Amino acid sequence: MAAASSLLAVLGTLLAGVLAQDAEGWYKAHPGMARISQVNQDTHQIVDEFNRTRFFHGTNVVMKESPWHRPLEWVPGVSSFGKQDVQNLHDLGLNIVRLGHSWAGAEPVRGSYNQTFLDIMKKQTKMAEEHGLYVLVDAHQDCLSRQLCGHGVPDWFVKEDWVSSSKMYPFPLKLTPFTVDENGFPSPQSLCDTVDWSLSYTSVAVGNAFGRLYNNYDGLGDAFAAYWKRLASEYAKTTNVVGYNLLNEPWVGDTWADPTLLVPGVADHKVLEGLWNRATKQIRTVDNDTLIWFEGATLDVLSGFNNVPLGDGSKSVHSFHYYSPPQLGSISTTLNNRHKDNERLRTAGVLTELTFWMGDDKQMQGLTDAMAATDANMVSWIGWAYENLYNGTSGQPYPELAKHYSRAYPAAIAGTPISFGFSESSTTFKLQFTSDPNIDAPTEIILPPSTFPSGYKVQVSPDGSLLQYALDKRTLALFTSTSIKTATDISVTVSSK
Ligand SMILES: *[C@@H]1O[C@H](CO)[C@@H](O)[C@H](O)[C@H]1NC(C)=O
Ligand SMILES: *[C@@H]1O[C@H](CO)[C@@H](O)[C@H](O)[C@H]1NC(C)=O
Ligand SMILES: *[C@@H]1O[C@H](CO)[C@@H](O)[C@H](O)[C@H]1NC(C)=O
Ligand SMILES: *[C@@H]1O[C@H](CO)[C@@H](O)[C@H](O)[C@H]1NC(C)=O
Repeated sequence: MAAASSLLAVLGTLLAGVLAQDAEGWYKAHPGMARISQVNQDTHQIVDEFNRTRFFHGTNVVMKESPWHRPLEWVPGVSSFGKQDVQNLHDLGLNIVRLGHSWAGAEPVRGSYNQTFLDIMKKQTKMAEEHGLYVLVDAHQDCLSRQLCGHGVPDWFVKEDWVSSSKMYPFPLKLTPFTVDENGFPSPQSLCDTVDWSLSYTSVAVGNAFGRLYNNYDGLGDAFAAYWKRLASEYAKTTNVVGYNLLNEPWVGDTWADPTLLVPGVADHKVLEGLWNRATKQIRTVDNDTLIWFEGATLDVLSGFNNVPLGDGSKSVHSFHYYSPPQLGSISTTLNNRHKDNERLRTAGVLTELTFWMGDDKQMQGLTDAMAATDANMVSWIGWAYENLYNGTSGQPYPELAKHYSRAYPAAIAGTPISFGFSESSTTFKLQFTSDPNIDAPTEIILPPSTFPSGYKVQVSPDGSLLQYALDKRTLALFTSTSIKTATDISVTVSSK
């Protein structure tokens, strides 16, 4: 009896081993994209439902004017977002889109949402899912509203009498306020081209409007939170939504009423934290799972938050940008500082915007440096922006940008990453990680065909520790061998044939 049962046990183990190594079987048993709703607070990395560490490369898609969404029909060189676009992004090797969900588009009349608009956003999110792309739902803004030569909040948000007539927009950038039409919008609109949008944040009217959002004047903070609750109820069950980016590049608030807000780090805890908590509280009434991505003041060197939204970093991601200016040091310095933030706030961080458009040699070198630095620091990135990829005349992607978008990277790691990096000059990708025997889901490496046109070869050490399976044209799946029973350091090198 004893002998028979131990034989059965051995057979059982063998069988489990065989099944676990059946790559096709694993994917059949786990169809679709993996849900992502957790941060590993020791590694400060985002993990998926299988506890794999996840990395993202992607681009921003934001429509900054009415109708607040990109058209679905593909027009080469013109900015659309439909089937052809998500196919292009897939083929480039990307796995995330930070997709602008304009509050102005969603709530054209206070208290009444435009379901037609929300359905278009959901349709675009679904298209992204069908092409293996995660979506970061982003409430985007720049200078807040149309009255302030910007966009973001609905037209009903800003009231004309909020500042005295002599201090109206763009005072003091110009000593005479702009003439406006019956809606309070600068008229003619070309007036807006006469001020630098980034300096506009220092105007009395823009500071005042942000201040009212933060101090919930007339329930405006609640209205913002209610918009997020609405978005979350639309998306709570959507597999490929990787997070809610509460507000793009929040200004520090009413610096004319409270100049201390200009002191680095102060606005984060003094005004932003309150609004993030207000919105997150509403989101969590309908969605306990989706990650909350929060931004701090754009100019900060180190984050000034006391706490991430609702106080627990296990479902929060610090969404930060790098541009030079305003960032003064190198990208490596910024990534270092953001890592310190992650350690203090016990969360993860993702570079959700960086310069990804054609420019002079210095700018292009900056992009090359950024690609190396994000690999070296194991940080995910999302370029600004999709439409800049194309030469508007030819309708073709700029090769100088496409080559960076098409880098090799580990989208999923079945364990803890030690290091990874892609060398564009030698077309070689290297990954080192410590395997987790509790994870049967595969490591997935994105190897875009445009970067490896004649295929690739793979070296693994220790020998036989990973079983290879080409999931699709761009994805190499590596299942950790079931013979590896303890956490083991594994290295993978992929080079072009
Ligand atoms: C995920 O992996 C970490 C170690 O990296 C471990 O501490 C944690 O318990 C795992 N979580 C689950 C749900 O298995
Ligand atoms: C709602 O959104 C649709 C799609 O953009 C648009 O055609 C329509 O005019 C919008 N309705 C309102 C009231 O803004
Ligand atoms: C979220 O979690 C709380 C606490 O466990 C629970 O009371 C609430 O019903 C959950 N909400 C949803 C939408 O699942
Ligand atoms: C854009 O495409 C046009 C037409 O092919 C070409 O003449 C032009 O040089 C391209 N621009 C750049 C900056 O590459």
